[in-house]
Parts: sequence; structure tokens; C-alpha cells
Amino acid sequence: AAEKLALKARIRQLLKEKQAVLVAHYYVDAELQDLAEETGGCVSDSLEMARFGRDHPAQTLVVAGVKFMGETAKILSPEKTILMPDLDATCSLDLGCPADEFTAFCDAHPDRTVVVYANTSAAVKARADWMVTSSIGLDIVAHLHAQGKKILWAPDKHLGSYIQQKTGADMLLWQGSCLVHDEFKGIELDLLKAEHPHAKVLVHPESPAAVVAQADVVGSTSQMIHAAQTMDAEEFIVATDNGILHKMQLAAPGKRFIVAPTAGNSATCKSCAHCPWMAMNGLRNLLHVLESGDNEIHVERATAEKAKLCIDRMLDFAA
Ligand code: 13P
Ligand code: SF4
Repeated sequence: AAEKLALKARIRQLLKEKQAVLVAHYYVDAELQDLAEETGGCVSDSLEMARFGRDHPAQTLVVAGVKFMGETAKILSPEKTILMPDLDATCSLDLGCPADEFTAFCDAHPDRTVVVYANTSAAVKARADWMVTSSIGLDIVAHLHAQGKKILWAPDKHLGSYIQQKTGADMLLWQGSCLVHDEFKGIELDLLKAEHPHAKVLVHPESPAAVVAQADVVGSTSQMIHAAQTMDAEEFIVATDNGILHKMQLAAPGKRFIVAPTAGNSATCKSCAHCPWMAMNGLRNLLHVLESGDNEIHVERATAEKAKLCIDRMLDFAA
């Protein structure tokens, strides 16, 4: 405990000295989330992280999350220094959508508007017309559908089919998934609901359709926290990374939160309800990057310039 206190004190001091700001996602370690808030940074969902990083005057951003979040920050603010605690913190959606295969898929369907999820590489974004996050994907696709556009969607198949079902849009889906959310199970959720008949069910739309179908609220991490805070219920079943519980408990003290069931348990399923890449962010490697300036994010200029167009389009739409 004494070592942790010392680590945190040193991190606070370095953030100040280097005029750096910490931008964290709700899935990272609770200590990093608290540090981000305490030191004037932010803890939020992917959309708010992007906006916060772009608008904050600090010249150095330390992004505690996964690679696409660091890349998005760099693309939006090429003049800033973007550091990440661990450059190997990736995402199964990003890994499952290599730029060359994705480009071939787009080339084969030139009549479709290309909409990609934030959880992709800069090179994939560079080929897209729109980028969306989970909080705004539905509204953007509904907007494109109203204009008569046909959509090519990548990479998350569950989020894609949820949006397709909600909007009725013509969507051709890449078949990617998030290894954390893909593990939530509809049948087990049904049984758990029977044990907790008054609980409300909050679901992230990267979850399978059988889970989404049982939700009282489907939304991004920020939207799920907002629902926990504002809904008139004492108990909630939560289908997303368990890192979110820290903020939910703070936002809604006195309410009870239960993580939705997965097929395995922690002994058999390494990624059950917790993202192994988000878990790579810790106090030690955060301190290391602040001390050394290591792990800077670079995005090749031409790629970044192209990718920025689809991110700006989303941010303008959201404004
Ligand atoms: P949001 O925080 O935007 O809901 O995204 C969740 C996610 O997949 C982050 O890895
Ligand atoms: Fe990617 Fe899933 Fe981890 Fe989010 S939780 S970073 S979508 S693997």
C-alpha cells in the first residue's frame, strides 16, 4: 500500500511538471480512473475521450486505454505528444480487421457508404467515410439510412446487427467481435434475471443479440453509467467489462450491480468480463512513460490526414 501511494504521488507530480493530462477509459484499473479525475483529466467512453483529448490545452496526453484510443487522440491532435502505458494494448476488433482485407472488402462494394467503429486501426479509418462509437453509431446510421445510403459496416458484427435491426438500414457486416462481450450468454442471463426479478439489465451493444434482446438499456459505457444513476431501481445486471463497476458504484451509491453471466468462470475463461488489453494499463507503466517519454504514439501522416476526415465527421455530427 505504501508503494502504491508513492507511485501515485510521483505520477501526480510528473503530470503537473510535464503539463500532461491523463485520459482514461472506464475499463482500466480503478486507481488509474481515480487519478485521471483527481488530476483534471477525464475518465469516459470512447467518444468523450476523443473530444476531451482534442479540446484540452495540454501538449501531452497520456491515454490509459487501448491502442485505437491513442491513435484517435494523435490523429485529432497531431501536434500533441500522445503517450500510452503499454503499446501492446490492442483490441480484438482491431486485430480482426486487417487494413488490406478491409480495403479489398470495400473495393468489392463501391456503392456502399463505409462506416467503421472506433475500435479499428488508423489505416482502416483512412478507408472509411464515417467513424462511429457505440454511443452514436445508431444515430449516424439512422441519418445515413434516411438519405437512402446503403452501408458497409465493420468490424463488430453484434453492434452492426443491433443497429441494422433498430434502423432497418441495408448493412453489409464485417464479422468481427469483441472477445470480452462475445462471452456474455443469453440463456444464463435469463436464469439470472429470474433470480433477480427487480433488477434492470444494462447491456453494451458489442454483446450478442440474445443478450441485447433482454436489455432495459443498450448503450455505450457512459450511457450505461448514466442509466445506473438515473433509473429507478436498486439492482442492475451489467453486461460489459467489469472495470465499469467502479464508476457505477460511485455514480449510484447504495445500488447493487451484478456482472452478467459468461459461459466460463475466471478459472477457465481468461477474458471473462475483463479486457486483457485494458488490464495492461497500470501505475508502474504509467509512471514509466511519464518519466521516460517512451511509448509515444505515431501515425503516418497521410494515413492520419485521411482518417481524420471520418472522425471529424462524427464529432461534427455529435456537436
Ligand atoms: P465505449 O466506451 O465507447 O462504449 O466503448 C467500449 C469499448 O469497446 C472500449 O473498448
Ligand atoms: Fe476491444 Fe473488447 Fe477490449 Fe473494448 S473490451 S478494447 S472492444 S477487446
